[in-house]
Amino acid sequence: MRVTTRLKNSSEQFGWISIGFHWLVALGALGLFPLGVYMVDLGYYDPGYQWYPDIHRSLGILLAGLLFLRLIWKLINPSPRLLVHSTWEKAAAKGGHLLLYLFLFTVLISGYLLSTADGRGIQVFNWFTLPALPGLAGRNEELAGWVHWYAALTLIIFAGLHALAALKHHFVDRNPTLKRMLGIKTEK
Ligand code: HEM
Ligand code: HEM
Repeated sequence: MRVTTRLKNSSEQFGWISIGFHWLVALGALGLFPLGVYMVDLGYYDPGYQWYPDIHRSLGILLAGLLFLRLIWKLINPSPRLLVHSTWEKAAAKGGHLLLYLFLFTVLISGYLLSTADGRGIQVFNWFTLPALPGLAGRNEELAGWVHWYAALTLIIFAGLHALAALKHHFVDRNPTLKRMLGIKTEK
């Protein structure tokens, strides 16, 4: 097995920068979901009552920054061509990726609105404070909470289907779709 040495994408192969972005964003989203579910059930006297939501919000804001950089990188350095042939498979792959980005944004924005609804900014790891948007204080905290939960749930279900599609490419179609997202060299 040979590992790619590229940093940038070619028309056939993902480079390490895109691969790094993909797996960091995936790890972040897949980790924040169980953390969110766990923390909302904590009681007021639980030692983690403050701490877990602080971590959840801080990691969420960093994930938003990462996603933003990822999209800039995607504009500068487009993804390799899709390894599917039929028109409907191409449309499904592109549409699926677009939906993943859309759900990610919805979860991140609703999380921000939910957390700043009391008019206070978000303290990110004692590092910096992301301010609340003026004029939005006291607005629709419940709605943002509802959107956050359903968008997060949909994102995780979609990510599961997306992972199944990747495994199908690998084990059934036997094409290098998954290999090239793992940095395994597929071009000569
Ligand atoms: C992909 C990123 C994220 C995922 C997958 C995620 C997931 C979740 C989940 C599953 C819950 C539990 C919801 C419930 O049971 O009602 C939750 C709660 C929460 N999330 Fe996120 N979250 C993400 C990003 C963020 C961000 C960026 C923020 C804020 C900056 C945030 C702030 C919150 C807050 C404040 C709660 C508690 C809501 C409550 O008390 O009802 N989340 N999150
Ligand atoms: C929350 C988790 C995940 C998110 C949000 C996500 C998102 C994405 C997005 C947006 C793309 C398109 C990349 C581009 O811009 O060209 C992509 C590609 C890809 N993802 Fe994921 N992904 C996640 C998890 C996974 C998992 C768990 C696997 C594997 C089991 C996986 C395997 C792949 C592969 C193989 C590609 C390349 C597809 C191609 O070459 O056409 N992803 N992912």
